[in-house]
Amino acid sequence: MREFGRVGVVGCGLMGSGIAEVCARAGLDVLVAERGAEALAAGRSRVTASLDRGLRSGKLSADEREAALARLEFTTDLDEFADRDLVVEAVAEQPDVKTAVFKELDRVLGGGDAVIASNTSSIPIIDLAAVTSRPQQVVGVHFFNPVPVQRLVEVIPTQLTAQSVTDAVTDFAERRLGKTVVHAQDRAGFVVNALLIPYLVSAVRMLESGAASAEDIDNGMVLGCAHPMGPLRLLDLIGLDTAQSIAESMYDEFKEPLYAPPPLLRRMVAAGALGRKSGRGFYAYDS
Ligand SMILES: NC(=O)c1ccc[n+]([C@@H]2O[C@H](COP(=O)([O-])OP(=O)(O)OC[C@H]3O[C@@H](n4cnc5c(N)ncnc54)[C@H](O)[C@@H]3O)[C@@H](O)[C@H]2O)c1
Repeated sequence: MREFGRVGVVGCGLMGSGIAEVCARAGLDVLVAERGAEALAAGRSRVTASLDRGLRSGKLSADEREAALARLEFTTDLDEFADRDLVVEAVAEQPDVKTAVFKELDRVLGGGDAVIASNTSSIPIIDLAAVTSRPQQVVGVHFFNPVPVQRLVEVIPTQLTAQSVTDAVTDFAERRLGKTVVHAQDRAGFVVNALLIPYLVSAVRMLESGAASAEDIDNGMVLGCAHPMGPLRLLDLIGLDTAQSIAESMYDEFKEPLYAPPPLLRRMVAAGALGRKSGRGFYAYDS
């Protein structure tokens, strides 16, 4: 089975920082790219803060923390990705932003056998593969938030992905990163978001209609259905902008009204209330 030793991660927000962390903790050489110095510094502190939490909770020793940090490098220049075997793209859930990154990666990686994977939640993988010269080496590898904690990875081959690439990334996620893989077809939402997003946007509609308060909706699902977290708190964790983009992609794909982002979600995103990452969403958070 093909091994990936040098991993690149593009985007170091909620998901990219987690993907970079688990790869570094698994002993891989990891290079992380962000779009500017400020975002890079924020991404680096996100990874460091998560490793520090691991140390405090006893999940990580001081040596393991140091070793993980030593395996991580950061850059704002994608040209430095030329030697990567596997690049995981985790930039914003917007088709134009992702296709620009894919074109750039395709150029930088040249004609070799490097694999480009997208962590997209809902954008068709084939649309990203189609802007490259290597569609057989493009695959969806969808992690869950928070990446160091959640065990699942969805692997999504397109109609053009080589079977050897699907097998290699599946083996990578399972054996190197210790995750459990489910395979999904290249349809917006894959398995988990196809089921989750209608539920989350229904909770927003329920709040919007005045049927119940945010606390009562969340308590209902936590105490009544034993969910670890209610739907509105989960939206705050995912990021309302990301959830809106996922709902939009799913609506574009299926034209089902139940996927359409409700007005309240759109207004909150427009107001900058993005959830935990902005300090305010359906609930308020300390910085
Ligand atoms: N939030 C979740 O719960 C979740 C779960 C699974 C998958 N995803 C997917 O992961 C991806 C990232 O989501 P997120 O929640 O981490 O978003 P985020 O907003 O936290 O992070 C995105 C990061 O990408 C960076 N970025 C944007 N353009 C870039 C570029 N051209 N080059 C380098 N960096 C760039 C931004 O500066 C930002 O730090 C999305 O496709 C999303 O759908 C999100």
